[in-house]
Amino acid sequence: MLGGTGYPLLYRDKTTCIFSWSCFFKWRPEVGKLLVLTVATEETDGYLRFMQSANYFNYTIKVLGMGEEWRGGDVGRSIGGGQKVRLLKEAMEALTDQEDLVVLSVDSYDLIFAGGPEEILRKFQEANHKVLFAADGLIWPDKRLQEKYPSVRSGKRFLNSGGIIGYAPYVNKIVAQWNLHENDDDQLFYTKIYLDSFQRENLNIGLDHKSQIFQNLNGAIDEVLLKFGTKSARVRNTVYDTLPVVIHGNANTKMYLNYLGNYIPNAWNYERGCGVCDHNMVDLSQLKEYPTVMVGVFIEQPTPFLSQFFQRLVTLDYPKDKLNVFVHNNEVYHERHIQRFWEESKDVFNSFKVVGPEENLSQGQARNMGMGLCRKDPGCDFYLSMDTDVMLTNRQTLKLLIEQNRKIIGPLVTRHGKLWSNFWGALSLDGYYARSEDYIDIVQSKRVGVWNIPYMAHIYLIKGEVLRNQLKERNHFVLEKLDPDMALCRHARELTNHREKDSPNPETFHMLRVPKGMFMYITNRHEFGRLISTANFNTSHYNSDLWQIFENPVDWKEKYIHPNYTRIFTENYLEEPCPDVFWFPVFTERACDELVEEMEHYGSWSGGNHEDKRITGGYETVPTDDIHMKQIGYDKEWLHFIREFISPVTLKVFSGYYTKGYAVMNFVVKYTPGRQAYLRPHHDSSTFTINVALNSKGTDFQGGGCRFHRYNCSVDSPRKGWSFMHPGRLTHLHEGLPTTNGTRYIAVSFIDP
Ligand SMILES: *[C@@H]1O[C@H](CO)[C@@H](O)[C@H](O)[C@H]1NC(C)=O
Ligand SMILES: *[C@@H]1O[C@H](CO)[C@@H](O)[C@H](O)[C@H]1NC(C)=O
Ligand SMILES: *[C@@H]1O[C@H](CO)[C@@H](O)[C@H](O)[C@H]1NC(C)=O
Ligand SMILES: *[C@@H]1O[C@H](CO)[C@@H](O)[C@H](O)[C@H]1NC(C)=O
Ligand SMILES: *[C@@H]1O[C@H](CO)[C@@H](O)[C@H](O)[C@H]1NC(C)=O
Ligand SMILES: *[C@@H]1O[C@H](CO)[C@@H](O)[C@H](O)[C@H]1NC(C)=O
Repeated sequence: MLGGTGYPLLYRDKTTCIFSWSCFFKWRPEVGKLLVLTVATEETDGYLRFMQSANYFNYTIKVLGMGEEWRGGDVGRSIGGGQKVRLLKEAMEALTDQEDLVVLSVDSYDLIFAGGPEEILRKFQEANHKVLFAADGLIWPDKRLQEKYPSVRSGKRFLNSGGIIGYAPYVNKIVAQWNLHENDDDQLFYTKIYLDSFQRENLNIGLDHKSQIFQNLNGAIDEVLLKFGTKSARVRNTVYDTLPVVIHGNANTKMYLNYLGNYIPNAWNYERGCGVCDHNMVDLSQLKEYPTVMVGVFIEQPTPFLSQFFQRLVTLDYPKDKLNVFVHNNEVYHERHIQRFWEESKDVFNSFKVVGPEENLSQGQARNMGMGLCRKDPGCDFYLSMDTDVMLTNRQTLKLLIEQNRKIIGPLVTRHGKLWSNFWGALSLDGYYARSEDYIDIVQSKRVGVWNIPYMAHIYLIKGEVLRNQLKERNHFVLEKLDPDMALCRHARELTNHREKDSPNPETFHMLRVPKGMFMYITNRHEFGRLISTANFNTSHYNSDLWQIFENPVDWKEKYIHPNYTRIFTENYLEEPCPDVFWFPVFTERACDELVEEMEHYGSWSGGNHEDKRITGGYETVPTDDIHMKQIGYDKEWLHFIREFISPVTLKVFSGYYTKGYAVMNFVVKYTPGRQAYLRPHHDSSTFTINVALNSKGTDFQGGGCRFHRYNCSVDSPRKGWSFMHPGRLTHLHEGLPTTNGTRYIAVSFIDP
């Protein structure tokens, strides 16, 4: 068995020593125990993950081929070809005299260690072979060789060259036979040696039939389960009841390996949470200057609460002179909102550019354009793409994403109270949504971390250098019939059409795509914000957000309900200016303004006549100059508002009275000297009445107010957004005091008539 104690020496000096053979063995003569040889021509994300798992277990690794051009077959392939065997052959030539040295040759791009070197050595010795190959249930590349394979009673029968372990001289005897081309098939080469019974016996070659060491995931996803320990996570092969050490996402199982890699070996477990989240973080406060960010904003369909979206963009905690904003607006309806935002904020950002509906850009074209603006500007450090249905409630979001330092990363945003989010944990075979085992836990933040996932949308941050290197093609958003974000994610995960050699099915060659292997992450380490619903957004109103009380209740409340409203219940934040007349904040200024605008936009004020066709009986004894909520199609929403926000106040001030929250008469009244300036004393046909001031005395009008006769008490300085609540009959005879100048608006409801 190998003691772990020797390794730190090597690691302390690894930068100078590890890449030189002579130095390596001079330093560590006794290390002749286990040496990992791997081939990697580029430091892909998969390679870095492999090294992270190897370093975690203190493996001794020699990387072959780094910086070499890959000639072993299809571009970007992780396993493959003759080049790998040739590199191994060259490396083994230097090791022939290392009789005790056990060499483990594995891929790196799609492989994770789930256990340490001691365990591998023990299992190798127990296997009692001089060389052991990984085994596979599927035969590849030559099916005709099937009968030549020794049969096995239990376990996987066929050789897979993705994992080889053996004593150095024996491995050398195998690879020394290589004399083929760089792009010839390595698996076929090894297979032929294994199937030669003389060599098989002479060199004592075996297969790891029951995944004691090697777990190939291709065709075997159903065999494995994640298994959590106190310090780390690994997989159990449930068919053979083994704990494989080398987990290999061969063929089409890269995505599943990415999922496993979110846990194995120390990425996340129940006891310690995320073990790798702090790796490679950037400390923004240490930078001389903040990075420059291009923010692409996409309004691709009518979207409620657009002004709140822009407000949040302006209040992001990030130097605005480092932000360039590109807006694509596909909706004529939103032009006035953007115009308003532009007038208020055009000088806030370093630059601000809008492409409007007149350009008739498809969504894919617009997204290509926004991304292109960052790609072609060498000074653009990051590209932040945001759809306007993302409500970032966390002002630190951009900083937090940059500090996480990943190529592509999105903040988790979810639909309030729903499992709907901006990422998918898995893909179905046809590339659409599939639910991963951990999806719900991530959405609900029961598992917190930075997650490698196959699909995300709505908001993500990409490094500018990635756009200028890995994603340098100009069109990432238009691909077949895919939704633009799906197209982007597929481009990041995959390269173009290439044959995949591991594929068990040659007919699907041209269908498969070889992974470019860029990892995309979603983080839920913080709460970032939410996704709003754009469904059922009826834009035929003037201020259509008012109607969103059902579809987007959280955003509705935030926009329209007074910020001090909740203090009514926590701090008794209300007044009683006259007996049993309660006075409390309920609407924001915005709510008041939009309601008045909506009524004026509708424009058919009743004129304050006694004859009134809108009510049963057709006669109003104390008529006001008003518009009913029903007339603007707002009665359902208004009643919902009463139940949600007025009923709780009623219960508080008139304890024991449970309102049904029912009202037929809901209307906005207009008082102005030229038309109707006051209302004579009257009772309301209600159990209680609410009366909300919609504008401000002094600025919008003079005079006004309300007088309660029985108590000789008036409130003559109504506050915008504040409501009265008072009994309607018997005790509270009241009148509307004259408005002497300007126009006064109030919203009134007779509740429980
Ligand atoms: C790797 O080596 C370090 C330094 O000696 C040690 O602290 C750590 O426990 C080792 N890791 C494992 C998994 O053995
Ligand atoms: C906008 O583009 C679509 C599809 O490209 C096309 O069918 C339509 O005619 C274009 N409309 C205008 C006004 O150019
Ligand atoms: C949108 O609102 C208008 C005005 O209230 C109404 O006539 C129309 O039916 C609504 N459309 C939908 C799809 O609900
Ligand atoms: C809420 O109450 C606080 C303290 O009374 C006050 O300072 C603040 O202006 C109020 N907010 C609004 C929007 O009126
Ligand atoms: C009503 O109150 C006013 C002052 O607030 C007072 O001058 C007046 O005498 C009162 N009237 C009655 C009938 O109490
Ligand atoms: C009435 O209001 C207008 C503007 O709102 C103002 O210019 C004017 O001075 C006001 N008149 C009086 C008598 O307050």
